[in-house]
Amino acid sequence: MKDLLTDASDRAVRYLDGLGSRSVAPAPAAVSRLSSLDEPLPEKPTDPAGTLRVLDEAVSPATMAMAGPRFFGFVIGGCLPVTLAANWLAGAWDQNSALYRSTPGTSFIEQVALRWLLDVLRLPPEAGGAFVTGATVANLCALAAARHAVLERAGWNVEAQGLFGAPPITVVVGAETHPSVTKSLGILGLGRSRVAKVPVDSQGRMRADLLPALSGPTVICVQAGNVNTGAFDPVDEVCRRARAAGAWVHVDGAFGLWAAAAPSRRHLAAGLALADSWATDAHKWLNVPYDCGLAFVRDPHALQAAMAITAEYLPTQSEFRNPADFTPELSRRARGVEVWAALRSLGREGLAEMIERNCAQARRFARELGAAGYEILNDVVLNQVLVSFGDAERTSRVIQGIQDDGTCWCGVTVWQGRTAMRISVSSWATTDADVEQSIEAIIRIARS
Ligand SMILES: Cc1ncc(COP(=O)(O)O)c(C=O)c1O
Repeated sequence: MKDLLTDASDRAVRYLDGLGSRSVAPAPAAVSRLSSLDEPLPEKPTDPAGTLRVLDEAVSPATMAMAGPRFFGFVIGGCLPVTLAANWLAGAWDQNSALYRSTPGTSFIEQVALRWLLDVLRLPPEAGGAFVTGATVANLCALAAARHAVLERAGWNVEAQGLFGAPPITVVVGAETHPSVTKSLGILGLGRSRVAKVPVDSQGRMRADLLPALSGPTVICVQAGNVNTGAFDPVDEVCRRARAAGAWVHVDGAFGLWAAAAPSRRHLAAGLALADSWATDAHKWLNVPYDCGLAFVRDPHALQAAMAITAEYLPTQSEFRNPADFTPELSRRARGVEVWAALRSLGREGLAEMIERNCAQARRFARELGAAGYEILNDVVLNQVLVSFGDAERTSRVIQGIQDDGTCWCGVTVWQGRTAMRISVSSWATTDADVEQSIEAIIRIARS
């Protein structure tokens, strides 16, 4: 056991040490060599050390350097060293962290992590929470709680009776709502298309002045952080309208919710605490390992009513919180461990510094690429930058060139009809020197 774990640790450290100097995208030859893994299932046991060696030699070179300092695709945080170490230790514990009585250590730490999260994100301290796989499932859990609550108020028990014959629920979204919200609505039987869509402005923000009249069971979904521009819907105003009508407001803040933890970005999150539920990712801006999403619900009973499971063999009665009473899964890994480790090691100030630094780095990308003559399509309010290098064909060619060059990695998007490069700065590991090196590479390739 010890030799194997030491070998794994040596290989992991070697891999991480090499991330700053290798191509961010894997070399095509390394991806081709993956076919060597496509061998028949061994009939007999094979040497564990050999298995680890094959894994490292075949797969490590074929990975995208997402854990490195110059990956700016999608919204991908890195992995703070302490969270990786905590993840290894928790892996050794192998706790099925569903019930407090069977896994008190990891259940308790999740409770502490939840309290700290509500504190740094400035959400109501009484809110309940779920540690799940990502913001998609966090949206699903929070919207399941919303469905429960608005129908309960209408005298309907949706968990017991389902949706057949239930009072209809009006669902309101912005035209720029994230597809994971739409998907969650579909899974919950609320319909991907059966929604009232509110028009948005040039940054993708919901036009609160165009909200429909609200009455009856209603759920309004808002974005805290548009996936392209980083813009925030006017949550404050939406919540005030919703309150008056007894509607539920759900916030998808997969990365944007973390703005509340950074003093200079906090104004973007104004009014967020007035909502009823929130979804975010710890594997994005908190920089913990995949997979780790978080759902928060002001009324913990609504989340519990939607998620809890009961059976004779499951000792759910406990004076403490059973993690699985709040999540779709019963058996589950102890995600709270890495969240706790990140928050404990960063502290309030370290977390704020990381977010502020990434936002300042995004502004630098925009400033210097703009000064070099390229068009910045969004107001850079957070960590997202949209760059156009000209028409769609030219912009796509430059993005491909940047990905092939390997100094950094940025993805493509279409923003309000225009093809653009999307830069998302979300990693603890990104230094100002990495930003400078990436800007130089982008300009060199765009000018070639
Ligand atoms: C705004 C937003 N919401 C939801 C999601 C879904 O998150 P996950 O991929 O963790 O399920 C993302 C992912 O990029 C996102 O950016």
